[in-house]
Amino acid sequence: MKNTPINYDIVSQKVKESGVAQVGSASIREIKKLVDNIEKATGDKFIRMEMGIPGIPASQYGVKAQIKALEDGVAAIYPDIQGIPPLKNEISRFVKNFLDVDVAPEGCIPTVGSMQGGFAAFMMLSRIHKEKDTTLFIDPGFPVHKMQHKVLGLKFDTFDVYNYRGEKLREKLEEYFSKGNIHSVLYSNPNNPSWICFTETELQIIGELATKYDVVIMEDLAYFAMDFRKDYSKLGEAPFQPSVAKYTDNYMLFISSSKSFSYAGERIGMMVISDGLYQRKYEDLLRFYPNAGFGYSMIFGTMYPLSSGTSHSAQYGLHGMLKAVNDGDYNFREDVEIYGEKAKVMKKLFTENGFSIVYDKDEDNPIADGFYFTFAYPGFSGVELLNELVYYGISAISLSITGSERHEGVRACVSLVKEEQFADLKFRLEEFNKNNPIG
Ligand SMILES: Cc1ncc(COP(=O)(O)O)c(C=O)c1O
Repeated sequence: MKNTPINYDIVSQKVKESGVAQVGSASIREIKKLVDNIEKATGDKFIRMEMGIPGIPASQYGVKAQIKALEDGVAAIYPDIQGIPPLKNEISRFVKNFLDVDVAPEGCIPTVGSMQGGFAAFMMLSRIHKEKDTTLFIDPGFPVHKMQHKVLGLKFDTFDVYNYRGEKLREKLEEYFSKGNIHSVLYSNPNNPSWICFTETELQIIGELATKYDVVIMEDLAYFAMDFRKDYSKLGEAPFQPSVAKYTDNYMLFISSSKSFSYAGERIGMMVISDGLYQRKYEDLLRFYPNAGFGYSMIFGTMYPLSSGTSHSAQYGLHGMLKAVNDGDYNFREDVEIYGEKAKVMKKLFTENGFSIVYDKDEDNPIADGFYFTFAYPGFSGVELLNELVYYGISAISLSITGSERHEGVRACVSLVKEEQFADLKFRLEEFNKNNPIG
């Protein structure tokens, strides 16, 4: 029996019982279940970093507005598929206030989480050009987007951006775009899982090439304004959340309420389609839709058969939050800044004990402290590291499932870790370091 912070025999037993071949290559949900079982059997609490769920209460502006809407009777009534007009207006105001981008309310569409926004977009973008059949993911990325492609039977290509930062990104994207089969590109910014953020240079390159090759950019802003190196939450004032929307008109944005507003449970997000793309007519869409208009077909040909719009009361909840933000009554960033503060301490504990941060730079600048970070340990692959860390009461996920080529890497999410657990984390990392001396 080995001397590890969590009872070695019990952990081994529970891993065996779980049926997963290796902890390190299990899915997020499998890891969650396994750790729940180990915690129950040992009475020890894990440093749980596997799931990317908000760790703080939902915005009260949302909760109150939603309760009021329910009391007013909206539950009985189908919402407009394109979204209720007051919400569409507030989304448009929000985009102007915090991205400094003009989008007509028409193109501001509530979706059942950003997740549905992505699904709907993939369905349409794969059909706008007969000759273009592939989505390009700038990875690492959120594995569910690839799962959506698989269930829709859609093709995708991907590359890990690690070695293609700054000007190098131009050549890499041209290599893909010039083949002529790419209809759209998806990336998240800040990035899940690596927390890299594209620089203005990189966004400009993406935007210019999108226009040049007529490729639509899907910018996933699931962690809106959560690059805490800068304060993007000042109403109508620079600095604004960086976005490709500044550099091309060929874009769609997905703005989630799950993390920035801690509203994950209500499954409401925003799809923002540029005015140009919304109005554009694609003759090739007529193969699937009665109307060639992109915006029109998104609403009446795609959102309608998917879910007939988004929960009526949740739309009022989101409206309540956005109105408070747009009127200057509520600073959503202040509620979530804590993630950055925790990441700073946790990253230090890891690096002081022989670990390194895998995705560590945005061009020449150290990456921000935020919702996620990535780490590695000499001599271990990500999978091996996770297999081992489970005996130290630390759980996370391997970067290999995210399209990352950094197979040594692990993704850690800070949201569920409590500050009271930092002492445990320190002890466990020290023990790991002691038991695995770096040669
Ligand atoms: C990059 C990214 N995109 C989209 C989502 C899903 O967002 P939503 O909860 O709004 O569906 C997540 C959630 O973790 C995410 O990390």
